[in-house]
Amino acid sequence: MAKTLRLLIVINLAFFFGESIHAEGFNKAGIATAHPLATKAGYEILEMGGNAFDAAVTVSAVLSVVEPYSSGLGGGGFFLLHNAEDGQSVFVDAREKAPSMADRDMYLDENGDVLRTASLNGPLASGIPGLPAALHHVANNHGSMPLYKLLEPAIRLARDGFPAYERLITALNVAKKSRTLSPKFKAVFMPNDQLPEVGQLIKQPELAKTLEIIASNGHDGFYKSFFTQKMIDEARQDGSIWLADDFKNYSVVEREPIKVNFLGAQLTTAPPPSSGGTTIATILNIISEFDFIEMDISTRTHLVVESMRRAYRDRAFFLGDPDFVDVPIKKLTSKEHASILAQSIDMNAATPIHEDDQLDEKYAWNEGSHTTHFSILDMDGNRAAVTQTINTWFGSGYMLPSSGLILNNEMDDFSAKPFAPNRYGLVHGEQNSIQPNKRMLSSMTPTFIESEKGLAILGTPGGARIITMVLLSILDYFEGGTAETMTAKKRFHHQFLPDVIRYEKDAFTEETITILESKGHTLQEISSYGNMQVVTWEKDSGDVSSSSDPRGIIEGYDIDFY
Ligand code: GLY
Repeated sequence: MAKTLRLLIVINLAFFFGESIHAEGFNKAGIATAHPLATKAGYEILEMGGNAFDAAVTVSAVLSVVEPYSSGLGGGGFFLLHNAEDGQSVFVDAREKAPSMADRDMYLDENGDVLRTASLNGPLASGIPGLPAALHHVANNHGSMPLYKLLEPAIRLARDGFPAYERLITALNVAKKSRTLSPKFKAVFMPNDQLPEVGQLIKQPELAKTLEIIASNGHDGFYKSFFTQKMIDEARQDGSIWLADDFKNYSVVEREPIKVNFLGAQLTTAPPPSSGGTTIATILNIISEFDFIEMDISTRTHLVVESMRRAYRDRAFFLGDPDFVDVPIKKLTSKEHASILAQSIDMNAATPIHEDDQLDEKYAWNEGSHTTHFSILDMDGNRAAVTQTINTWFGSGYMLPSSGLILNNEMDDFSAKPFAPNRYGLVHGEQNSIQPNKRMLSSMTPTFIESEKGLAILGTPGGARIITMVLLSILDYFEGGTAETMTAKKRFHHQFLPDVIRYEKDAFTEETITILESKGHTLQEISSYGNMQVVTWEKDSGDVSSSSDPRGIIEGYDIDFY
């Protein structure tokens, strides 16, 4: 149903806009999101004459309402934007920040062990939200329509409700059984402890009011008002250390994206505090040191895994908030650095973990498909790749009573204790230790590819695996892949620690598994993961294709819902 809806809208748009306008071959729009209602709302903004950045604000806000397990106003995100007129790309960093009263050891017990529940559950786990600031900033600095207009669909869906769907109900059921959820959260999503049924309307009146405040008063309405103080008071009652100044001082930052040249094409991707861009740059630069195109699939997989291992090791040691620590971006993205790392690869054997790297590997791996990504191309060639999150499923599981915000648990993306694994089993060093007002490291990797054959706009949720998912889709694109194959392709992942290749069923043939094991790799099949959203444009034909990950398709939506 979702796919049908998307195709119908693309066809309608082509009809609506005709073929007469727009230079450079852009005469069709494309939007790929994780939810049909967000996709539809985005297209409606384009139909009204909005640009890709307007549509991005609308889609972002709608996803905040209809995908409450993934992202929301209580979280943050990264908006990678490209303006077709001046040819410039910019990375809008709306990552959450640690409260000013946060300290390095705030999640350690008296023995120095990490209190993981404190960094994951309740208001103490929550950084200062960045998404409301992004909505205001992107609309005002890049969009062409007023913010209140762009937020209308999200307000309507929050106020009047959206139909519950299978994926949401499953997520609520897991959350209900496995974690503490705040009273207001339960009142909204499972009153009287009853899960909603498919099609039942989920209404979020307080969230609708919060969106209305942002719609009429913009950034200051959320960050510097009576309403702000109310949010802080409520959060503090339940354990938060937020202060009014933390909100007053919050602002998004426009950063220079990471640019990577690969096989004659240019990638534009996420800079720190995302770890995505530098890690992908290192991996691509390492494999470029080899004649990887000529390699058989098993040899190439070994090379890609060994490159992932080295790049994720760098990630653990060097990455953090560039406003607080010195991140050697130039070095990490340089051919020279990759060349040195490439020389250490033995094509016949997996690299053993060095004894200096003997870090704690004994932890559970239990990563979900939280966070969300969307990709937009408008008919002028403006584009947006946006990944936004509240971290794990339903963030901290805590909803602020009067504003309806589900608070993020993004503080867990800091290293609570350097080199102790976080929820994703990821290790981070001192660079990513907690400091007041610092942004925690992220894996979110919104990306553009510009090549001879055209353009791709991509990204995905998936915690630590975001980076390798984006990488594998980039490689697929260069092997002739389409939007459909980039989202569907089977995945594998290595992140330095634990020293294991996790892979989806059918990612490898039996022969490849045997060869990888003979080289000393440990492999583990895991259930499918990710929810990639890709839009591509072909230079020769001008065709635009949008594809949503088959792993995340939401069924059963009535096209006449609006
Ligand atoms: N919270 C997941 C990420 O930012 O990578």
